[in-house]
Amino acid sequence: MAAINAVTDLSVEGDIGVVTLDSPPVNALSALVRQGLKAAFEAAIADPAVKAIVLICAGRTFIAGADISEFGKPPVEPSLQAVQQVIETSPKPVVAAIHGTALGGGLETALVAHYRVAVPSAKAGLPEVNIGLLPGAGGTQRLPRIVGVEKALEMVTSGQHVSAKAALAMGLFDELVEEGGLREGALAYARTVLAERRPLKKVRDLDAKVEAARGRPEIFAEFRKANARKFRGFLAPERNIQCIEAAVNLPFDEGLKVEHGLFLELMAGSQSAAQRHVFFAERQAARIPDVPEDTPTLPIRKVGVIGAGTMGGGIAMNFLNAGVPVTIIEAKQENLDRGVGVIRRNYEATAKKGRLTEDEVERRMGLLTPSLRLEDLADCDLIIEAVFELMAIKQEVFGRLDQIAKPGAILASNTSYLDIDVIAAATGRPESVIGLHFFSPANVMRLLEVVRGARTDKTVIATAMRLGKTIGKVAVLVGNGHGFVGNRMLAERQREAQKLILEGAMPWDVDRVLYDFGLPMGPFAMSDLAGLDIGWDPTQSSSSTVREVLCEMDRRGQKTGAGFYDYDENRVARPSPIVEQVILDFAAKAQIERRRIDDQEILERCLYPMVNEGARILEEGKAIRASDIDVVWINGYGWPVYRGGPMFWGELEGLGKILERMRQFQAALGDDFKPSALLERLVTEGKGFKDA
Ligand code: 3HC
Ligand code: NAI
Repeated sequence: MAAINAVTDLSVEGDIGVVTLDSPPVNALSALVRQGLKAAFEAAIADPAVKAIVLICAGRTFIAGADISEFGKPPVEPSLQAVQQVIETSPKPVVAAIHGTALGGGLETALVAHYRVAVPSAKAGLPEVNIGLLPGAGGTQRLPRIVGVEKALEMVTSGQHVSAKAALAMGLFDELVEEGGLREGALAYARTVLAERRPLKKVRDLDAKVEAARGRPEIFAEFRKANARKFRGFLAPERNIQCIEAAVNLPFDEGLKVEHGLFLELMAGSQSAAQRHVFFAERQAARIPDVPEDTPTLPIRKVGVIGAGTMGGGIAMNFLNAGVPVTIIEAKQENLDRGVGVIRRNYEATAKKGRLTEDEVERRMGLLTPSLRLEDLADCDLIIEAVFELMAIKQEVFGRLDQIAKPGAILASNTSYLDIDVIAAATGRPESVIGLHFFSPANVMRLLEVVRGARTDKTVIATAMRLGKTIGKVAVLVGNGHGFVGNRMLAERQREAQKLILEGAMPWDVDRVLYDFGLPMGPFAMSDLAGLDIGWDPTQSSSSTVREVLCEMDRRGQKTGAGFYDYDENRVARPSPIVEQVILDFAAKAQIERRRIDDQEILERCLYPMVNEGARILEEGKAIRASDIDVVWINGYGWPVYRGGPMFWGELEGLGKILERMRQFQAALGDDFKPSALLERLVTEGKGFKDA
């Protein structure tokens, strides 16, 4: 075995040259990898003893793509295209041997090999769209030539990985070899290619599949239409589609040029920068400075959930999905039956869509034990409380849990706002108490805010973070404080939205501006969906807010057919003249002089105070880093990923500009706009949140 460089080896076995890449963690195509690959292939091609070449990777995976950490930096030779050129024009057959994930530039490298073999557990995909890009090394031109236009469109715009079996069926892989036997299997395959004198199959020369789509622009029009909602606001899906169109309509090399141009355009834009930021931010969130990676964790074999309402049911499903048995507790039989019924219906709806087998539904339901007795939680390793948001009830539940739970069990609360330390004080074991704040719907939303109490043990924190991963969530550690990170910042936006409608805007103006910004819906549409009467008490209602007035009129949201909007029988919202009048009357009564408010002010008023509050959260040490706040907002509140989260976006807007506007608003409207000390300091020092 000859070392080509620090990450590449070339060995010769009989008449086969084997190029092995070993660049942990994922064999990304860094400059060193590209240099090694090019040199190794050149050496193998030059070696007369070598008749065919196998490309294989060491470690957990085949090449998982270009090295994303190199993006935005000056390019280093050789380019990936130069490496591909050597492989594709090799006069000796090249076989790519794939395990793990062949992604992005990794799959594009495999696509210039003449043949591809893989183990059954391997996956392939072009996920560039997820970081605001398109496959920039020929992927958009070669993929449709193998799998056809429809499948290629689906793959490049969804970024989804396909299984080895599916890849084989599509022709993306030529053969599957035994699991664990990739090297031997690939060598055997290469020998067969030689023995049978198979041709040097170049994907670029295939034409039948793209020809089939030529002169049929409706394929693209329909695809765009069908996905318009999903792609809203994103640049990259459209650019990916344009590349596939180029593959269909242009000669290969011309198509490559289109791909290259659009790739550079996306790479230079703010959307890709934002999405790359999020990629690394989500991985960074797992790192906690004073809870090192080797901190011991506790085994979680059995989970208890208290409360089978909106949240408890969804929380339980996360564990059932991961194969962890759950005991769910309610105070009354009817509530228990209702809660368990909702879980079952959710699974059955998924099964109906073909995404779960009936057996799997039963298997998951079989892991669920409903009970009315808290004592049944005695053998649980983790107990999550999701009862009403009232401190007295939470304390009572935790006091009882202290008597019932086994020593060392983690006692968690799903509280949205309440003080974890006060809850912990109801037990004699505050070190075992932590906040596990899920987001609604809890079986769907990816965010898990892990709330650290003053005395929470590091083992408990490490276990909670690991658990997040087990159940497919992005866990972010946050400090204790009213509303933690997400809801605390949300409160800023909600307050301004309410003020804006009294000062001159209408709910649909505010909603439109935030929807156009990229959020899934504005605050008033959200209220209508959730129900205006959450936390509303008819016996105490005194028409003191617009919301109270609407509740008193039985306009309690979508469920009553009316809220801030009117709804037709299909739940389509329309601006409501009644609400408009309510708002005008309310403003008049409160002696607020209404004025014209433009869209820019709506946006600044709703979002700048959030960035400012984020800065305050950082200042108080309630979030470890600004990028954690971005992860919270993207995964818990639908902040558009192409805007990178509120803190990333704030820097893009310019912290100086935000500070200036906050000062102007403060002078005109009061201390809701008081700039945070951190924001002031960063602007004075010309720094960003990374330096906070
Ligand atoms: N570049 C640089 N670093 C990468 C990387 C990449 N393409 N892919 C993964 N990493 C790093 C991660 O940052 C992480 O580093 P850390 O341990 O220091 O945090 C480490 O590799 C392990 O990654 P994960 O924690 O994500 O490990 P998993 O096992 O959960 O997932 C994976 C592995 C499926 C490969 C996943 O990392 C992934 O999806 N990676 C991104 C793949 C991708 O987007 N490829 C396309 C890149 S763009 C491109 O190729 C352009 C081309 O068309 C020209
Ligand atoms: P919910 O009202 O839908 O469910 C609460 C359930 O707890 C009810 O079914 C009730 O019967 C049961 N319950 C009350 N006291 C109990 C007791 N002593 N023992 C057993 N069961 C008891 O409320 P929801 O929305 O599920 O909220 C639960 C918790 O989750 C609250 O703390 C809330 O702040 C929090 N939360 C809510 C979110 C939401 O969007 N609804 C989001 C994130 C957190």
